[in-house]
Amino acid sequence: MKSVLFVCLGNICRSPMAQGVMEHFIETRGLKDKLACDSAGTGSWHTGELPDRRTLATLRSKGVALNHRARTLSPRDFQQFDLVLTMDSDIHRQVLRVASESDRKKVRMYRDFDPAGAGDLEDPYYGTQADFEEVWTICERTTPVIADYLLGSSYVR
Ligand code: 4NP
Repeated sequence: MKSVLFVCLGNICRSPMAQGVMEHFIETRGLKDKLACDSAGTGSWHTGELPDRRTLATLRSKGVALNHRARTLSPRDFQQFDLVLTMDSDIHRQVLRVASESDRKKVRMYRDFDPAGAGDLEDPYYGTQADFEEVWTICERTTPVIADYLLGSSYVR
């Protein structure tokens, strides 16, 4: 069993979107016994809350139901997950700062796996519904590449 944790700031916009897309991928490709995922935030303002309504609306419009409550990244997560993917360079620095030297090897930028190119996955929190749709689009093309990396299979169409 391989596992990946998606990490953003609030754990209500970007990382739950990545989680929803990955859970949907796992479900539709029959990978439930091979691959698992979760998401967390480096900040605690939204702990216990549902994802942002725009994240949920975007996922719902694609037929994806997500059951998640915001939580903060814990030191235990580095033991629990094979791969920890950060949504932007600020988050990346924060996560590296709290990871032990051996755990740092597990930490990569989410868009390092984006076939369209690396960089930050911009925070849509102060944006519009269209910005959330763009997060979906990035997650949709990146998810199979992450699965390939973890499982050593070819899920990229
Ligand atoms: P996320 O977006 O990191 O993608 O969940 C944000 C959500 C909330 C805040 C910042 C970013 N906030 O400052 O409350």
